Amino acid sequence: MKQLLSEQELRDGVGRLAREITRDYGVRPITIVGILTGSLVLLADLIRQLDMPIRVGLVQASSYRGPNTTPGELSINFDMLSDVEGREVLLVDDIFDTGHTLEQVTSQLSEKQPASIRSVVLLRKANRREVSLSPDYVGFDIPNVFVVGYGLDYNDQYRNLPHVATLDPADLGAVEQDSS
Ligand code: XMP
Repeated sequence: MKQLLSEQELRDGVGRLAREITRDYGVRPITIVGILTGSLVLLADLIRQLDMPIRVGLVQASSYRGPNTTPGELSINFDMLSDVEGREVLLVDDIFDTGHTLEQVTSQLSEKQPASIRSVVLLRKANRREVSLSPDYVGFDIPNVFVVGYGLDYNDQYRNLPHVATLDPADLGAVEQDSS
């Protein structure tokens, strides 16, 4: 495992994201919706840097991943989300890889008729985007490597690392159940 982003870099990055979000929304109330489970650490750090009135909701996106970690079928659970109709929604996710997760969550959420939907991600992988959607706020652009820590997991481990680290491909198992 090799450190990619230190605790200090992550703190600075989250502070930068909070300033960009504040610049755009001002004091308008927003509903922040974290995509479980990987967004939890970013969500907790980000909301404490925001001063406008906020509500927090959660959705669960789960996909089955194969040996090369390409995305499989995605199921999205909105049971933990209260009414967002007419509200300004800011989706929070850990990483934008191919973009299918964020695109599908955005598309299904838009059926609930919020006033607007924007998205913030901590990390964006280079040259991986397969959808037209781009996140509105990006903490860090990173190379196309598998990363763990600061909420990101490998087989549900390493989410509690305070930094972001790359995981050696040799350590990646053949088939895993990914729980976003
Ligand atoms: P897509 O391809 O839909 O993927 O943008 C987004 C979801 O895939 C997971 N993902 C990762 N998880 N390290 C992880 O721990 C990674 O390098 C990685 N790349 C993608 C993650 O759940 C994300 O929400």
